Amino acid sequence: MTTAENTDGGTVPRARTIFLCLECGTSHERHMGRCPDCNTFNSLKEHRIATESARTKSRPVEERSTAVLIDQVEACEEDRIATGLIEVDRVLGGGLVPGSGMLISGEPGIGKSTLLLQIAQSISRQGKRFLYITGEESAAQVRLRSDRIGEAGNELWLHSECDLDSIEQQIGENHPAVVGIDSIQTVSWDEIPAGAGGVVQVREVTSRLLNLARKVGFPLLMVGHVTKDGSVAGPRTLEHMVDGVLQFEGERGHNLRILRALKNRFGSTDEVGIFEMRSDGLRQVDNPSGLLLSHRHSASPGSATAAVLEGTRPLLVEIQALVTPAAHGAPARKPSGIEAGRLSMLAAVLEKRLGIPLGGCDIHANAVGGVKLKGTAGDLALAAAILSSFHDRSLPRDVIFAGEVGLLGEVRPVPGTRQRLEEASRLGFHSACVAPGSLDGPGPEGMRIHETAELATLASRFVE
Ligand code: TYD
Ligand code: MG
Repeated sequence: MTTAENTDGGTVPRARTIFLCLECGTSHERHMGRCPDCNTFNSLKEHRIATESARTKSRPVEERSTAVLIDQVEACEEDRIATGLIEVDRVLGGGLVPGSGMLISGEPGIGKSTLLLQIAQSISRQGKRFLYITGEESAAQVRLRSDRIGEAGNELWLHSECDLDSIEQQIGENHPAVVGIDSIQTVSWDEIPAGAGGVVQVREVTSRLLNLARKVGFPLLMVGHVTKDGSVAGPRTLEHMVDGVLQFEGERGHNLRILRALKNRFGSTDEVGIFEMRSDGLRQVDNPSGLLLSHRHSASPGSATAAVLEGTRPLLVEIQALVTPAAHGAPARKPSGIEAGRLSMLAAVLEKRLGIPLGGCDIHANAVGGVKLKGTAGDLALAAAILSSFHDRSLPRDVIFAGEVGLLGEVRPVPGTRQRLEEASRLGFHSACVAPGSLDGPGPEGMRIHETAELATLASRFVE
């Protein structure tokens, strides 16, 4: 606030000039040609603000907060507003918490708007008012999409607006139970010098909206775009401000989508929600392994099935490898959905420990279905797929792999092996290849357990 008038306190807030960096959002006392924090040239812009002391002094005594005993603070779990979408509520930890701010982040085109709209529809169908603020699309576009993907219920309100003051006013008049904004990057506040979407703008706008949500007590859902490197315009700088960050992930060209809590003040960050993007919107998937394995090519050489964990949920993923003589001098390693470092490491271990001349081969490796393999539990399946492709011998169709491979070619147990094998058994796998000591007891009923201490055993048992 730079206004010289003050109606209630009587004191005149003193204004002060600072210089804000439009790249990284830091503020500086004087103008410089280059921001000392992010080293960008010509990024500092002048900005006038009311000084803190003037603001605090002018605050009436009754508005100041005081300390209270913890058991006198009113809060109960039942206040949560369930979205009604099981996969979303699971990730939230039961539902939206009044007064909280959640960020739904993800790359453009992944399905954030669709997800927000489906949450809005579902909440509105429960008779709770949802105010959907759209700055990206017109109200008519949202209406068309809404008709196509589901049923809106009676309490879904659309507001096509980018200006923060109008949005705040609308929230005040509409009395929504939940507010959703698509996207936070489109909201602008004309007192901030940067254009809509700039780091400073996004941060200030978010901070004001979070304050409002806290004061009025509605849950706020904000969509935020992240680019591939995660650096541009916003969401990363917002992560510490909001109560939770739900990341929506998937591969372009694939329909599997995973909602993951990167941060959640009101629940576990281990849970994931799994969806399939279809022509009529997102469908919740309660049997992701079945979906992923529905087109499995396990009879061909180069295919192995891994049992991985997404959060606490076991997921069976087909891993494919194609090993061919190197086309050009240096051998190529082309992973998709698999960490590049893991692939080169496994190729090197197979070469050194088993004497397989992969140094002269190109290797393509793929986690099928748009899954991104994280961690090391898929190592054993990837090694098996590479061996299978190299020897051109297919692996038995009904064996599941779960284990980490070390630099010495040793196979190590991975956490949650029992859970992984139970899922595999449920889906018709009759044998499992795991590290010795992975299970403290017998495996799932009817499943043969092949304990494999090193890659040499894997090779001799399955492919040679
Ligand atoms: P969208 O929710 O607009 O993504 P974001 O808000 O993250 O940018 O949806 C992205 C893509 O999803 C879009 O390119 C088309 C596809 N899509 C479907 O396949 N089916 C649908 O029902 C909808 C709404 C979108
Ligand atoms: Mg969108």
